[in-house]
Amino acid sequence: MSKQKTTIHQVLGFTLGCLLLAIISPVTFAAPGDLQYERRANDSADAAAELQSFPPSIFPHWIHRINYRCDACHDSLFEMKRGGTEVTMELMSKGKVCGACHNGKLAFGSDFQSCNRCHVVTKE
Ligand code: HEC
Ligand code: HEC
Ligand code: HEC
Repeated sequence: MSKQKTTIHQVLGFTLGCLLLAIISPVTFAAPGDLQYERRANDSADAAAELQSFPPSIFPHWIHRINYRCDACHDSLFEMKRGGTEVTMELMSKGKVCGACHNGKLAFGSDFQSCNRCHVVTKE
């Protein structure tokens, strides 16, 4: 009886451990339909250094398209053209672009636990 309990706990612990690892891992593999943003550094030295150390955001188009109709985003929030819409953290914090949903209510917002859900290093 108690022996079996231990086994179940071990299995659960292992599964949770794997899940946690998958969630906190900063390296993700790009799936078809993911858009990788290309951040343009401005002229300051800070911006160039930041670009080196902090990866641009990914936008998993496909995952969003499962949940939403096209007109949830096009063209009210985003143009149907890669790079067509300016996206910054400042706009997001004002509830614009991604921040229309990523506000901690409809979808995860941007706090220091969530930066690397969007800003991930991707490998093809
Ligand atoms: C919902 C997705 C998402 C989350 C969460 C998120 N970001 Fe962003 N972030 C973006 C997008 C999209 C851009 C625009 C493309 C790019 O530059 O990567 C961006 C841009 C940036 C930039 C470039 C300059 C600017 O202000 O636009 C920095 C720096 C940045 N994010 C830092 C952060 C930090 C730090 C966090 C966590 C506190 C964070 N981001 C969380 C999506 C996100
Ligand atoms: C959750 C929001 C969202 C939904 C829903 C959505 N899109 Fe998008 N779509 C985006 C974003 C963000 C971009 C990138 C815009 C940019 O780079 O400025 C984009 C880009 C595109 C592009 C340009 C891709 C490229 O490589 O140039 C096409 C085409 C597109 N979407 C079609 C669709 C269609 C069709 C649907 C419905 C089946 C859809 N989108 C649903 C947010 C969305
Ligand atoms: C119309 C609402 C909406 C908009 C706009 C939107 N998202 Fe999302 N996004 C969601 C929802 C809902 C989820 C899944 C719920 C969750 O995980 O909190 C999600 C999930 C994600 C995920 C995690 C996907 C995964 O692998 O689990 C990323 C990354 C992401 N969004 C980035 C972005 C970026 C970057 C933008 C802007 C370019 C954006 N989203 C715009 C609603 C939206």
